[in-house]
Amino acid sequence: MKTTTDGSGDVRLDGIGKTYGDFTAVHPLDLTVPQGSFFALLGASGCGKTTTLRMIAGLEEPSCGTVRLGDQDVTRLPPYKRPVNTVFQSYALFPHLDIFENVAFGLRRRGIKSVKKQVGEMLDLVQLGEQARKKPHQLSGGQQQRVAVARALINHPKVLLLDEPLGALDLKLRRQMQLELKRIQTEVGITFIHVTHDQEEAMTMADTVAVMNAGRVEQQGSPTELYENPRTTFVANFLGTSNLIEAEVDSRSGDDIVLRAGDGKLLLPSARCSAPAATGEKVLAGIRPEKIALTHADDAGALPDGRNRLTGTIADASFIGVSTQYVIDTPVAGALAVYAQNVERDTRLAPGAEVVLHWNPAHTFALDAAQDIDAGTEEEAAL
Ligand SMILES: Nc1ncnc2c1ncn2[C@@H]1O[C@H](COP(=O)(O)OP(=O)(O)O)[C@@H](O)[C@H]1O
Ligand SMILES: [Mg+2]
Repeated sequence: MKTTTDGSGDVRLDGIGKTYGDFTAVHPLDLTVPQGSFFALLGASGCGKTTTLRMIAGLEEPSCGTVRLGDQDVTRLPPYKRPVNTVFQSYALFPHLDIFENVAFGLRRRGIKSVKKQVGEMLDLVQLGEQARKKPHQLSGGQQQRVAVARALINHPKVLLLDEPLGALDLKLRRQMQLELKRIQTEVGITFIHVTHDQEEAMTMADTVAVMNAGRVEQQGSPTELYENPRTTFVANFLGTSNLIEAEVDSRSGDDIVLRAGDGKLLLPSARCSAPAATGEKVLAGIRPEKIALTHADDAGALPDGRNRLTGTIADASFIGVSTQYVIDTPVAGALAVYAQNVERDTRLAPGAEVVLHWNPAHTFALDAAQDIDAGTEEEAAL
């Protein structure tokens, strides 16, 4: 796939927003989706993903702002005049038509008579060439969803919008379809905007992910960028798991900022701190569970210098095959999560054991402390 950089096919949202009465479903947002990219809108249910997608499709009239495709302002165009197609969770296939005719539908509607070659190519693209004469109900959910994708792509849209298209599939099939959709997107090279509440799905498939929360885009970037450098507690907690430690700026040491957390000190590379960080300022120091190593307290003397360290007691250890997930009670930061790959397991690392948690300071990130530390966690979602 080639992503063009001249901007001629980009989807550009400028200040687009939607209110229903006095409720704001989408706060005015700016978003550029580069032509040919696989873009995911990720967020919990109700955060405004579908509304945003429907405004791009023309199915919902924005309360403010503009939608552009390349240089063309399409804000006032009806859906059928936009070079955009949508695939929904409910595949909405025509039950009485066979697969071939479902895919041919868009061509026939435009009065095109010889559809065989194009339909054949589309069916091959989604690997359903053998199923052409079956009816939708004779196919599995994943196959039906591929028919829906073929039916949309045959219209040669510039942009394909997908609203939780895999939501009805079971986990294993969903994983297969994620790879399948990614392959199809790479092969056809058009822009996909994919809406999902599943962070793993967004990370697996997308070049760029925009994380939405309560009608706003909190952050966008590549999956690695979002994971390694979250800028808000919501993003840090919603994408995977983060340990967030309340700390205070103590001093500077070379290229590092020294943070004080309880009676412990942690190093934070200055480059990872976006704000000025004056002495005494409060920050949340973040560290991902897999970046932390555990060493039994008896061996702590052998640890190399220069690593961030906290002491604690193992409260819980769950063996899940590839890794063991520990919960460590620390006097400084409460319960912290640590994921250790099961390579050489230290059998002393069992509940009750005294341990040292340690990590390379370069993996520490910092967030503004004036935020809800639990935003985006499962506990918060359950409230
Ligand atoms: N037609 C409507 N009238 C009033 N509220 C709406 C309407 N459509 C959506 N909403 C509200 O807007 C918010 C965002 O909805 P939606 O975009 O469907 O969220 P998502 O797709 O992220 O789950 C929700 O709180 C929803 O209840
Ligand atoms: Mg939705």
